[in-house]
Amino acid sequence: MYRTHNCGELRLEHASQEVTLAGWVQKTRELGGMVFVDLRDRYGITQLVFNNDADADLCDRAKKLGREFVIQVKGTVEERKAKNDKMATGNVELIASELNILNASKTPPFTIEDESDGGEDVRMKYRYLDLRRPIVQQNIMLRHKIAQEVRSYLNGMDFLEVETPVLIRSTPEGARDFVVPSRMNPGQFYALPQSPQTFKQLLMVAGYDRYYQIVRCFRDEDLRADRQPEFTQIDCEMTFVEQEDVLNTFEGLMKHIMKYVHNIEIEDVPRMTYADAMRLYGSDKPDIRFGMTFVELNDVAQNKGFKVFDDAELVVGICAEGCASYTRKQLDALTDFVKRPQIGAKGLVYVKCNEDGSFKSSVDKFFDQDALKAWVEKMNAKPGDLMLVISGEVEKARKQLNELRLEMGNQLGLRSKDDYKFLWVLDFPLLEWAEEEERWVARHHPFTSPKAEDFDKMDTAPGEVRANAYDLVLNGTELGGGSVRIHDRGLQERVFQLLGMSEEESVEKFGFLMGAFEFGAPPHAGLAFGFDRMCALLGGADAIRDFIAFPKNNSGRDVMIDTPSRIDQQQYEELYIRSVEKVDA
Ligand code: AMO
Repeated sequence: MYRTHNCGELRLEHASQEVTLAGWVQKTRELGGMVFVDLRDRYGITQLVFNNDADADLCDRAKKLGREFVIQVKGTVEERKAKNDKMATGNVELIASELNILNASKTPPFTIEDESDGGEDVRMKYRYLDLRRPIVQQNIMLRHKIAQEVRSYLNGMDFLEVETPVLIRSTPEGARDFVVPSRMNPGQFYALPQSPQTFKQLLMVAGYDRYYQIVRCFRDEDLRADRQPEFTQIDCEMTFVEQEDVLNTFEGLMKHIMKYVHNIEIEDVPRMTYADAMRLYGSDKPDIRFGMTFVELNDVAQNKGFKVFDDAELVVGICAEGCASYTRKQLDALTDFVKRPQIGAKGLVYVKCNEDGSFKSSVDKFFDQDALKAWVEKMNAKPGDLMLVISGEVEKARKQLNELRLEMGNQLGLRSKDDYKFLWVLDFPLLEWAEEEERWVARHHPFTSPKAEDFDKMDTAPGEVRANAYDLVLNGTELGGGSVRIHDRGLQERVFQLLGMSEEESVEKFGFLMGAFEFGAPPHAGLAFGFDRMCALLGGADAIRDFIAFPKNNSGRDVMIDTPSRIDQQQYEELYIRSVEKVDA
């Protein structure tokens, strides 16, 4: 037997017991003829003591232990004199009587501690060492716990876990596909699924009623902190349901997860239409941990001779409570913030509401105290508050003010990671105009059903057609999204047409699905959560990378196994692909 206990297990009640532990040497220190070793495994750290007086040989061997050596130690548990209340095992120590070195270790390239001295690149190269750090292990264990609770809830609701294929044909979710050449079908390719969307719909046609899968998806898109080229979804679909049923079922899932993972009872999740989200927050994923909602000021701010406002489609502001004390320097910094190329505002107008009831603005030349009072009333600003105003084209101004609102939320400490605020955003537009392609594209995906009351706008004003589509937002991040699906061939054909697809093209790409719709397809709806995002948000982090055992870096590379990489010449030939050198030649 390698061990009788793990390194996080021993307590006072084990005192005077003889035990065996195995693990990694975190650190060693010598003190007054004794050697203290911190022994680590996934469960925790236990202090080992090697006493020179008791066994000088053993103590000498302990002195030679290096960091990350793998050892097995036998000894007696004793109560510690100097207790450490920061450690779960801090009341006891193991007085070693035997030491067995199971494997030596080179000195690791960075410290295996929560606050490691290793940079991102080196930690990713040696990910197996990075994964030893307790903080990373906690993330991976949290992921396991969430997956377990997801399964427990959905199994209890009669969902069936069904696996769908990975070598498929393109499923459009708005990103590029990763493709896999087929040796047996020269010149032909599989696509890796951007999601199992069409398969889960076919499972509904096949009568499986309720499906879920914790499933890997692949998208070739620009990477960010909350995006990986391969990521995991909790993918779900239900038959004979309306939007309301889906929202309730998955709100229930989130309540279950919050309760059993974090012991937090969350309230009923508020709902907001897409139109309101854009109007009040300038974002389809509002962070509702704090207020500072947008107030439109066109009627009080235009036609007063300030050309910037007069020429704008929208004049819109937020009121930052208690910020009238911002200094010139702070205000300049905010102006610089919105003028950064990523945000792109031309400028920022401010109005300070002084404690004496007067106002001081950056546009005093154009707006007297009475004019500013009209703004203040609209915004419900109080003495001591600061109003920040942006103007321009509607969409751009809203986007810019959204960034500023989030920045103010950060500056004022209103975005605590322990505060979980869920929100359903409903009634998304069915389509959006793709400037470059000069055509309508599906805002969610082409299988999403338009709202029945907007059917008649499909010909006249496609941009105004709303979809039965919904997103679940947590603290300003899109956690999941889904829709009621089309289950009628005629309507599906009509939507493909709107997206500029010819009949041949839609039959070639999605004939299988439209064919299935002719064999008794039931009404169905579903959604998918980003599982990595869920783990990161519940773990209080922004980067999903920290919750994936073996993630890719920002260039889509796995630097540990050094891939993507070239393949053998013979493989290129078998796959009928010319290698890049040959193409270049
Ligand atoms: P959607 O494309 O909105 O919907 O994806 C669902 C959720 O998956 C997460 N997500 C990602 N997470 C990490 N890295 C990525 N590159 C990435 N892309 C998406 C997000 C997102 O909310 N088939 C539909 C769902 C449905 O209609 O049922 C779909 O895939 O959290």
